[in-house]
Amino acid sequence: MRKKITVVGAGQVGTTVAQLVAYKNLGNVVLIDIIEGVPQGKALDLQQSGCLQVFDSIVVGTNDYKDTADSDIVVITAGVPRKPGQDRADLLNINAKIVKDVTEKIMAHSKDPIIIVVSNPLDAMVYLAKEVSGLSRNHVIGMAGVLDSARFRTFVALELNCSLVDVDAMVLGGHGDSMVPMPRYTTVSGISITDLMSVEQIERLVERTRKGGAEIVGLLKNGSAFLAPGASVVKMVEAILRDKRRILPCTAHLDGEYGWKDIFFGVPVELGAHGIDKIIELKLTPDEQKAIDKSAADVKKTIEEVNAFLKN
Ligand code: LAC
Repeated sequence: MRKKITVVGAGQVGTTVAQLVAYKNLGNVVLIDIIEGVPQGKALDLQQSGCLQVFDSIVVGTNDYKDTADSDIVVITAGVPRKPGQDRADLLNINAKIVKDVTEKIMAHSKDPIIIVVSNPLDAMVYLAKEVSGLSRNHVIGMAGVLDSARFRTFVALELNCSLVDVDAMVLGGHGDSMVPMPRYTTVSGISITDLMSVEQIERLVERTRKGGAEIVGLLKNGSAFLAPGASVVKMVEAILRDKRRILPCTAHLDGEYGWKDIFFGVPVELGAHGIDKIIELKLTPDEQKAIDKSAADVKKTIEEVNAFLKN
């Protein structure tokens, strides 16, 4: 049977996800939003591109959660994006209400889906989705590390004037300004960038990566990035549906890994048919562990706010 991928939120990220899922023939797509007409219109438009792009996925747009029944994967993009000058944490209260409501409605119609959360502040929203859904930790995953690593990879390739596809990178930690790009684990065809660039160059690219989302928010003025975020989600969806067992940085529930418990945090995971199959623990240098601890402490604060929200 074809897989069913539900995308919650027919905004820019949701639409990009729906489009790439269909183009790659990963399964049937349900695009759902509270705004009437928009998911239906976008779904119909996308469906009509099928004979041109050569896919036969069925694409449905809806406002009714009954249409999401028995989803294999649910991608939650719902919520408001950042405006220039805002950081992701500023969105917590408004997006917490939305993500809670969406998760409850999804769980009313699907028994054991894999949920991928994109809404910001990411680490807090994915924690909330796990609390509200009651799903096991391998089935609730946040999308951040794939995107942040793609940004780091891009900046490295542009700096070295080399092919983007030869660059691999690892960005760990929370999806905020204290995220932790890992130069030691960032390579060009297997060569660590620490052998290819000066400390100053690397530091500049690390800083640009940390502010990568804000740079785009500042340029767009009205909305945040969506093409690379959408492609990052679909890379995860593909790893799961095709059981690729890819090693990707994803936001996962920690239970003692990296010295932290009961937070969601960006770490390398193995991603396959069961969702997160395992979390890979890297041997960190003291400086790297310090950066991880700083980022985890920032994430912990937003998670405490979510716990306070859930108690009210
Ligand atoms: C960004 C949003 C998706 O980093 O968090 O662009």
